[in-house]
Amino acid sequence: MTIEIIILAAGQGTRMRSALPKVLHQIGGKSMLQHIIETSIELNPSVIHVVVGHGKDMVIEAIDKRQITNGNETRINWVEQTEQLGTGHAVMQAISHVDQSSTVLILNGDTPLIQPETLLPLIRSDNSLNLLTVELDDPSGMGRVLRNSEGFIQGIVEHKDANSDQLLVKETNTNCMSGKAHQINKWLSTVKNQNAQNEYYLPDIVTGAVNDSFPVNASQPTRKEEVAGVNSRSDLCKLERIYQTNQADLLLSSGVTLLDSARIDIRGDCQFGLDCIVDVNVIFEGKVSIGKNCFIGANSIIKNSRIGNNCTIEPNSLIDQSIVGNDCNIGPFARLRPGTKLGEKVKIGNFVETKKASIDDESKVNHLSYVGDSLIGKSVNIGAGVITCNYDGVNKHQTSIGDDVFIGSGSQLVAPLNIGKGATIGAGSTITTDAPDEVLTISRSKQKSIRGWVKPSKK
Ligand code: UD1
Ligand code: CA
Repeated sequence: MTIEIIILAAGQGTRMRSALPKVLHQIGGKSMLQHIIETSIELNPSVIHVVVGHGKDMVIEAIDKRQITNGNETRINWVEQTEQLGTGHAVMQAISHVDQSSTVLILNGDTPLIQPETLLPLIRSDNSLNLLTVELDDPSGMGRVLRNSEGFIQGIVEHKDANSDQLLVKETNTNCMSGKAHQINKWLSTVKNQNAQNEYYLPDIVTGAVNDSFPVNASQPTRKEEVAGVNSRSDLCKLERIYQTNQADLLLSSGVTLLDSARIDIRGDCQFGLDCIVDVNVIFEGKVSIGKNCFIGANSIIKNSRIGNNCTIEPNSLIDQSIVGNDCNIGPFARLRPGTKLGEKVKIGNFVETKKASIDDESKVNHLSYVGDSLIGKSVNIGAGVITCNYDGVNKHQTSIGDDVFIGSGSQLVAPLNIGKGATIGAGSTITTDAPDEVLTISRSKQKSIRGWVKPSKK
């Protein structure tokens, strides 16, 4: 059985009050549409048709185009719906692109938490029209599932079209449905827009199936949150919390201690070794990997970085596109900018900023320094307040520091510059030319004390 998926993503999302198309709003740092596409791919469809309209170029641009499944590339076919005349109309635009003998699964672009396991029952059989429905305590706004006295589904009525009895129904339509493409195509052609919103409603195909005496089945998600849709920023915010709670639960069950599972945010993909401890208000973004036995201090942000084993990240540190070796100690208040690469047992202290800097084993930059475009050897000690002056206002230049160097506090290293191994730079020096190995280089002016000098007094 070949499966094709249609994702509805053309609506403006008026209730979001946003210039951004609704499906590009993010959950866990990833657009809702990207979530649905990734879930869809798990079902191994031959093609995913995404119906776009409002902000179409922005939507197409934002989605990661190369989607690989089991070594095969899933094709995304973008279908334009020029006017948003309803969900049924949106599917009509796509259905002619679908192989009519295939099973088609229709998904809403604004239901980002749905899981592949929940969708499996829908694509197992195409001898029926398969709906995903959910019982809600508060079904307001949703389409209601109408069943006859024997419990057979008769149709779906939208909230705005429902009478007072129908409004009491708690079983609602999630708008995820599947069936044979040619049948859905046929039922769609009978859908009219004579309703409260003058729209062509996708759920009206249920009436088509019932009129054909074709079976209509419904399955339910194991967890209701999965099918919650986003129509407003308030919904988005609620779903973000659900998503983050799930992420935190996954981390806890994989052996990470979270000091408060409600105060961690994962916006991407984060892998941990065993026995890590994460303090409160930590954010992980993009692709992050943390070794075993690490401690991540409060209010730290780690983005697209790799951290080795036994590292301590003290509070309020920001680590971005960096690689940290084993047994390092970073922060508090450290900023590792892109291109930082630390060896083992490196210490980066408070108010230190690094950028495109490779700092080898057992070196220390403990206080208030800027190290950029630098290559630093092993067991180097950079004193407080040292600055690599890497920028001349036009170009960036490199600083290279050999093993076992000691840079005295308050020095400025004006790049391009080489400091030989074992060298010592006297505190407060401004070094503008290469410093030789093993000797003391110092450039500060000689100190003098003026005897008999008189303090000015107030006139
Ligand atoms: C829809 C269902 C409702 C269901 C609810 C579940 C209809 C008529 N109603 O209502 O029964 O309970 O989902 O969340 O389908 N879209 C298009 N083109 C359009 C209109 C919408 O692509 O012309 C897309 C939207 O971008 C969105 C999805 O379809 O991703 C659903 O549209 P939305 O307007 O949010 O439908 P609901 O009012 O939520
Ligand atoms: Ca919706």
